[in-house]
Amino acid sequence: MIRWGVVGVGYISRRFAQGLKHVDDVQLTHVWSRRPEPTAEFAAEHGGIACDSFEALIESDLDAVYIATAHPSHAAYSIAAMRKGKAVLCEKPAAVSLAELDRVLAVARETGMLFMEAMKPGFYPLYRALREHLAVDPIGQPNYIRAGAGVANTPPQHAAFDPQRAGGGLLGIGIYEAFLAVDWLGASHEVQTLGRVAGGIDLFASVNSAHEHGIAQWYCGLDLHGRGDALICGPQGNVTIEAPWWNPQRATIAYVDGRTVELDKPFVGGGLNYETEHFCDCLRVGAAQSPAISHERSRQMIAMIDQSRTALGLPPLG
Ligand SMILES: NC(=O)c1ccc[n+]([C@@H]2O[C@H](COP(=O)([O-])OP(=O)(O)OC[C@H]3O[C@@H](n4cnc5c(N)ncnc54)[C@H](OP(=O)(O)O)[C@@H]3O)[C@@H](O)[C@H]2O)c1
Repeated sequence: MIRWGVVGVGYISRRFAQGLKHVDDVQLTHVWSRRPEPTAEFAAEHGGIACDSFEALIESDLDAVYIATAHPSHAAYSIAAMRKGKAVLCEKPAAVSLAELDRVLAVARETGMLFMEAMKPGFYPLYRALREHLAVDPIGQPNYIRAGAGVANTPPQHAAFDPQRAGGGLLGIGIYEAFLAVDWLGASHEVQTLGRVAGGIDLFASVNSAHEHGIAQWYCGLDLHGRGDALICGPQGNVTIEAPWWNPQRATIAYVDGRTVELDKPFVGGGLNYETEHFCDCLRVGAAQSPAISHERSRQMIAMIDQSRTALGLPPLG
């Protein structure tokens, strides 16, 4: 039985708690957030003890902590939890800059605690089925990716519009596109970015990135209604993952010989359960990092975001 503590009781923590019900041999035992009332409500709805302080939570008898607060607080909570001997699954972005992430990863190495960024898409049944299918019926080494997301219905009071809470499309949404690019094409060596900045945050970014195996073109924004599908091309075919590709359920593979293959893999439990299951498997075998979302993979993703932010003239964070 893996005992979980949850830090933050907002939108994604509720989804995490729902997902946990679909994972074997786990229990939500403790929860903390800054305001007692929503913390108590969360505990009443999802179980666990409502802790009075973050310190009380990390000193409790639990195995793993899920951190789902605003971006700039992820690093400090992760570091403190690992220092208390807790494994950490931290929401994306794991840190607001590469420099800050490196400080977190240094503590992960020093303590030997499992640390993983909660980068969910690769764990969904569709994404796994796609990988398995391409292993036996390949499109060749992918050499071009096109993807993006625009979330025009984000309310103005949301953290995404607040520079003090490390808002902006790149850190909130673009990190997913960065994942897709590095997952299929490898680390980037050049990142070019155009965009729109207002109120101290990036409202829109259009990025071309050159990677070990090819080129990615991706966008993220808060001022447009984007389409949210993803295209992965290789010499013998291409894959379209239907929108929203970051919660994937359907994909079509079109081969150069004229064949098409449809993949249809609905997910259950809200989708976060698959990454949680993987994290628990890593914890049970004593791994210090996930082979899927390795520390280096997280570094590659945030490095791209750093470079895009710099290109748009945004200040360094963390
Ligand atoms: N994986 C995914 O699919 C996904 C989806 C959405 C979000 N996320 C990530 O999850 C994180 C939270 O997003 P959300 O949409 O759940 O936000 P949210 O609904 O605003 O909830 C954030 C929670 O964290 C608390 N919090 C915020 N800043 C804090 C701080 N400095 N110290 C302690 N508690 C703090 C908030 O408490 P108060 O009420 O006191 O502010 C609230 O309980 C973000 O980093 C985001 O990128 C991931």
